Amino acid sequence: PHARLSLDPAFVVAPVSRKTFGTFVEHLGRCVYGGIHDPGHPTADEDGFRGDVLQYVRDLGISTVRYPGGNFVSGYRWEDGVGPVDERPVRKDLAWHSTEPNTVGLDEFMKWARKAEVEPMMAVNLGTRGVQEAIDLLDYANGEGGSFHSDLRKENGAEEPYGIKMWCLGNEMDGPWQIGHKTAKEYGRLAAETARAMRLIDPDLTLVACGSSGSAMPTFGTWEREVLEEAYDEVDLISMHAYYWEKDGDLASFLASGVEMDHFIEDVIASVDHVRAAKKATKRINISFDEWNVWYLDGEASKNPETEWPVAPVLLEDQYSVADAVVVGSLLISLLKHSDRVVSASLAQLVNVIAPIMTETGGRSWKQTTYHPFAQASKFAQGDVLRGEIQAPTYETAKYGEVPAIDAVATHDAATGDVAVFAVNRSLTESIAIDFDTRSFGAGEKALNLVEATTLHNPDPYLTVTVDTADSVAPEANGDTSWEGSVLTVILPPLSWNVVRLA
Ligand code: AHR
Repeated sequence: PHARLSLDPAFVVAPVSRKTFGTFVEHLGRCVYGGIHDPGHPTADEDGFRGDVLQYVRDLGISTVRYPGGNFVSGYRWEDGVGPVDERPVRKDLAWHSTEPNTVGLDEFMKWARKAEVEPMMAVNLGTRGVQEAIDLLDYANGEGGSFHSDLRKENGAEEPYGIKMWCLGNEMDGPWQIGHKTAKEYGRLAAETARAMRLIDPDLTLVACGSSGSAMPTFGTWEREVLEEAYDEVDLISMHAYYWEKDGDLASFLASGVEMDHFIEDVIASVDHVRAAKKATKRINISFDEWNVWYLDGEASKNPETEWPVAPVLLEDQYSVADAVVVGSLLISLLKHSDRVVSASLAQLVNVIAPIMTETGGRSWKQTTYHPFAQASKFAQGDVLRGEIQAPTYETAKYGEVPAIDAVATHDAATGDVAVFAVNRSLTESIAIDFDTRSFGAGEKALNLVEATTLHNPDPYLTVTVDTADSVAPEANGDTSWEGSVLTVILPPLSWNVVRLA
């Protein structure tokens, strides 16, 4: 079977937003303790941060890191995490039924973020707390000095303001599981008032209101409208969260998760633009897709401890397969295709907890299968996202009906001439040849040449990797390419994530 991808450098969706390649560090399981922070580890630096993890993080090409939660933030007192470590209180973390030692807090995270070369995206607690604590935190983080909280930061060793620009106004406040869960109206008011107060300190912040924590939420659709009826003028972005996993052995539908993500994004755009129309506003609210991934939510790994209150328990440590990597790739394609409205996104999460990077506390570390599509997309998606037309064979799914077997997106860097095509083949059985006519990019001396084609593929969709076999699933050179005139044909193996680079 054949597919065709039509592209023209003049048809641009939007510039690639580097913020699409964000991730997430929550005080959850072994993400912080044993993940990024592990003072006993042989590679740990003077601040207790693992050097091996920092290197993986830099190589992954991350732009932003959301912190400190997640569900955790809705019961968090940020003050617990600053000042002399041995004087910090130990608290029960109700969200994950764990004990939070508060060894790592804002000042440690900011040191780590600097070393990791990432921009922080901070969340404030709008579950158990409100406006006052949010502005105190903002002043602690960004104040120049001369006020109680900004001076406290200096006393704690950070002379210069952190200048944190992106702030999440709470987390998943639509979810009944959330500590301090609210109705849309209650939350919308609180988000608006918090935003207004924060902007009195710094009008240039980027503020994210909580959207729905999933498209299956009963309040999805009305939540966005009601929140924005209260907070439209005060916020910049609305959040989206989505997790996908294979249910009831239906691999075909799972592989089409990107189709659901496309619909979800388009539905959120419709909801927020409805408020825009009703308000006769000129400003547009865009999207921060600040939690997305494959997560086997009903799996054993996701069960909270019920009786004990452990410190940094093994939680949500999903092992990812080849199929999971292909789905992560297709979700990246969906995010990029919507770059005109999805301006920020965070893969949830970064280390150990539903993560591309795994560690043994005190021991080895390795890359999961899902590391690769993220790293490649982050590295090679440069310049503008192009509006592509794809004609592809279809297959039938129980959940989404007939879906295209191929999904793809391309980027074009006008400055260098580089083109990158990211494509998934979701078919479990068929190799599919994709034809891409490069004519519109230039002819003769200006014609595009193939730089490299890679594919991540394995005949076993369920193959996962361990610390000992981590290299066994990774992108490999795809030699199945040919030219006929200006048309490049690349054969995409069944169940594969592919990157084709031209210059
Ligand atoms: O990423 C794991 C959890 O998923 C987050 O804490 C929460 O926001 C979401 O439900």
